[in-house]
Amino acid sequence: MKTAPFQGYLRTAALLAGCALLGGSGGLPYAYAHDGDDGEESRAARGLEIAPVPLNLRGKDRHLVGLGSYLVNAVGSCNMCHSAGPATEFTATGNPYFRGNLPKTVNQATYLGGGRAFTPPGAGNPSILSRNLTPDKTGRPAGGMSFATFREIMRTGVDFDHAHPNCSATVTTNCYPATQPYDGDLLQVMPWPELQGMTGRDLRAVSEYLSAVPCITGPPTGLLHNDCT
Ligand code: HEC
Repeated sequence: MKTAPFQGYLRTAALLAGCALLGGSGGLPYAYAHDGDDGEESRAARGLEIAPVPLNLRGKDRHLVGLGSYLVNAVGSCNMCHSAGPATEFTATGNPYFRGNLPKTVNQATYLGGGRAFTPPGAGNPSILSRNLTPDKTGRPAGGMSFATFREIMRTGVDFDHAHPNCSATVTTNCYPATQPYDGDLLQVMPWPELQGMTGRDLRAVSEYLSAVPCITGPPTGLLHNDCT
């Protein structure tokens, strides 16, 4: 069981090595591995190959984890926002945006750990941090989130943490001013108006994958903190 999580990883490494031997493929090592077959099997297989962290598959549906990885890493761009920011999303020597065409290396230390800051357009809005999506010691994603809660967030954008409410007489910090149109009950940066169109099965796969990635503790307290043990 312990070796299973690394199989996809090793296969990716082998593929990378293979491509290097063949003279490289312009930085797209898996460009052709599953092309021509767009069924779910091939998406799940691709997903296991491209997962940038070791996965804990114990007690999990390997196929769903793979499909979820595909949706998170190749389609949903989740880590683009749910890492700590562009400066640390990739390792210093593995940033694909940089000159030199070096192999892409996602920074495992910030992968899906949250903390990237955004500010919705308009005067006086609070700075919004992306959340930590990694599992905590319960093994459930996003710091112990049930699937029902996860699905509701993805479908409706509800912010159960009420991190950035509308300002009022009693709420004056970290809130949306009355001059702004934003609904403080909802996530305002998270692209849920698009992601809400995913099927229930695909959401299940994303949730399964998020429960398989390594826990990131984050800061000692607050929304981004996870108890990993
Ligand atoms: C454009 C940036 C962006 C992308 C892409 C993105 N998110 Fe988010 N997400 C955020 C931000 C920022 C927040 C929290 C604050 C807010 O939106 O108001 C958030 C919040 C969430 C939450 C709520 C967490 C909680 O504790 O309540 C979940 C779950 C979530 N995102 C999952 C995902 C998944 C899964 C994907 C990929 C399929 C994804 N996000 C892609 C920016 C993004």
